[in-house]
Amino acid sequence: MSRKIVITSGKGGVGKTTVTANLAYRLAAAGERVVAVDGDLGLNNLDVAMGAEGSIAYDLFDCMDGRCRVKQALVQSPWHKNLFLLPAKFGKNRSGDARSMSGVITELGRTFDYVLLDCPAGIDEGFRRAVTCAEEALVVITPHVSAIRDADKVVGLLTEGRSMGVGLVVNKMRGDLAASGDVLGANEIASLLKVRVAGVIPEDDRITVGLSLALGGGGRAFKLLADNVRSGRGRLYDCESRYTGFLGSIRRKLKRIL
Ligand SMILES: Nc1ncnc2c1ncn2[C@@H]1O[C@H](COP(=O)(O)OP(=O)(O)OP(=O)(O)O)[C@@H](O)[C@H]1O
Ligand SMILES: [Mg+2]
Repeated sequence: MSRKIVITSGKGGVGKTTVTANLAYRLAAAGERVVAVDGDLGLNNLDVAMGAEGSIAYDLFDCMDGRCRVKQALVQSPWHKNLFLLPAKFGKNRSGDARSMSGVITELGRTFDYVLLDCPAGIDEGFRRAVTCAEEALVVITPHVSAIRDADKVVGLLTEGRSMGVGLVVNKMRGDLAASGDVLGANEIASLLKVRVAGVIPEDDRITVGLSLALGGGGRAFKLLADNVRSGRGRLYDCESRYTGFLGSIRRKLKRIL
């Protein structure tokens, strides 16, 4: 059975597209058939994050409007043979109802093990449309008060009147700041929001849209996230331990100076 997961957040710019692209790749690398759908019909960029820009003929909007078949709009990612993108093209007045999007997502579910939906920022029409199509949600947050407050509202909306499996992805985590207590740790955020943490991703300059296939620590963190999504376990990437203890306090000071 196919799993349909929306990647959302309250606040914009916290890393939804980056998480969607990297999680999709790690699931595909684990042997799953995966499609990532750009749910942002206005300001698309998942194609760039998945290294597939320039190969787009049709998009999600064309599928919703019946201008093409879903298969015609799919683009294979150069990252993995099991990994596909259903892109969105940039454009004004590109909108559509949740029902036609749901039809497209249901059709994808017949071919793929995982359908990941990259949600636009905010809680407007695009958010509602994407959320309606999914049975599970990953809420991406950064460990900052504003992002946590917005995520709280989103978790409320996601679970309002329906049963939805929700997990948190704490992105852009700074281990040095968590160890010194300057930002909240993943477990504290989980107990504040009363939602389990599915993954912790470190802040890493090598994670950038355009070259977003994270390697190194970021890559290991995304692999753990994918393992947790597949298995339901909760093994989290440890950002903090290298900044605790005597040596850790020196590393923290060095990080502040540099
Ligand atoms: N773990 C990370 N470490 C460092 N930079 C990151 C990390 N995650 C994301 N970024 C950077 O943060 C910026 C925003 O990321 P992204 O576009 O994925 O966010 P978004 O939530 O999809 O934004 P929007 O709400 O506009 O759709 C990008 O420049 C990206 O490279
Ligand atoms: Mg985005």
